[in-house]
Amino acid sequence: MITYLDNAATSWPKPEVVYKAVQDCMRMVGANPGRSGHRLSLEAGRLIESARTALACLFHVEDASRIVLAFNATDAINMALKGILKPGDHVVTSAMEHNSVMRPLCSLARAGKLHLTVVGADMAGLVTPDRILSALRKNTRLVVLTHASNVVGTVNPIGDIGAALRQEGVYFLVDAAQTVGVLPIDLSSLKVDLLAFSGHKGLLGPQGTGGLYVRPGVHLDAWREGGTGSHSEVLFQPESMPEHLEAGTPNTPGFAGLAAGVRYLLEAGVDTVRNRERELRQVLCSYLSQIPGVSVFGPSSSDHAIGVVSFNIDGIDPSDVAYCLDTEYGIMVRPGLHCAPGAHRTIGTFPRGTVRISLGIFTTMDDLKRTRDAVAEISRRP
Ligand code: ALA
Repeated sequence: MITYLDNAATSWPKPEVVYKAVQDCMRMVGANPGRSGHRLSLEAGRLIESARTALACLFHVEDASRIVLAFNATDAINMALKGILKPGDHVVTSAMEHNSVMRPLCSLARAGKLHLTVVGADMAGLVTPDRILSALRKNTRLVVLTHASNVVGTVNPIGDIGAALRQEGVYFLVDAAQTVGVLPIDLSSLKVDLLAFSGHKGLLGPQGTGGLYVRPGVHLDAWREGGTGSHSEVLFQPESMPEHLEAGTPNTPGFAGLAAGVRYLLEAGVDTVRNRERELRQVLCSYLSQIPGVSVFGPSSSDHAIGVVSFNIDGIDPSDVAYCLDTEYGIMVRPGLHCAPGAHRTIGTFPRGTVRISLGIFTTMDDLKRTRDAVAEISRRP
């Protein structure tokens, strides 16, 4: 029996409708969207647009052309950073970021193309507005912040931070890889200029899907250029969205699956998903913290955290714990640094990291009880 608790890496299983949509697309449509004009190509184009429309509906975005489809959140973040930053800009980010943010920023800084300030977080991983605002300079073009930590689940106050940055005239890029589909995100009211997200985690789509919301009025230089199936006589990337930022054949079966995943969520209600996950997280934290020798990291209350919990057992390496959970109990979790070394430095678990449990839409109370019993047994070993 498999107990899958690695949904922050990728959600699994997917709803049946997602499997069916991918398979129907591959078996019955198959063609290249927006290219050839025959009926199968038109149908493939409709599948792509149905994903865009479903995402726009989920995020309360009026103009769906502002949702750019990407391969994953990393791809979307690169598109945003490399499209908006100019030489000499100052960028503020936080110690809680994933390497999808840190690596492109550090590499641009090392090449002398930008100045970077990394602000700290508290021990629970929270980045407060004052930390961000006090780091701003005259030439700050962009703040990049994770919506919620992929290590401890802490949710950052992007509403307050975005409102303050809009007043300062500083662009705000939110990494929502971990929060789309598990927290309500209303882009008609949030002051967010760019929002990068994955399609294969909380949105329940296949791997190889993600996207970037670009607020109307915000211009990005095209990072990826090439064929769009439109304006073929022009030798430069079209300015019209979303083609401006989309080039090459997309992952049509993946986006057909993503559209089905998002529609599934719209029907289930993100608020309902959120409330259930909050309840499960609270139970899990209480189970783990009652086991002698176990330390749980991150926020103690689940009101400002998503379903991601990191823990360690005294004297046992996190990777050994994860190995035992997998091989002896069938429980799948992720140990180590989770591609977020700064987050581990913040919570004091660098360089060994932690064992991370991440909940999903199909996680049950029984899964948590099995995990509690397994962790308790492992912790009692001599
Ligand atoms: N970013 C993903 C994780 O946190 C892969 O596991």
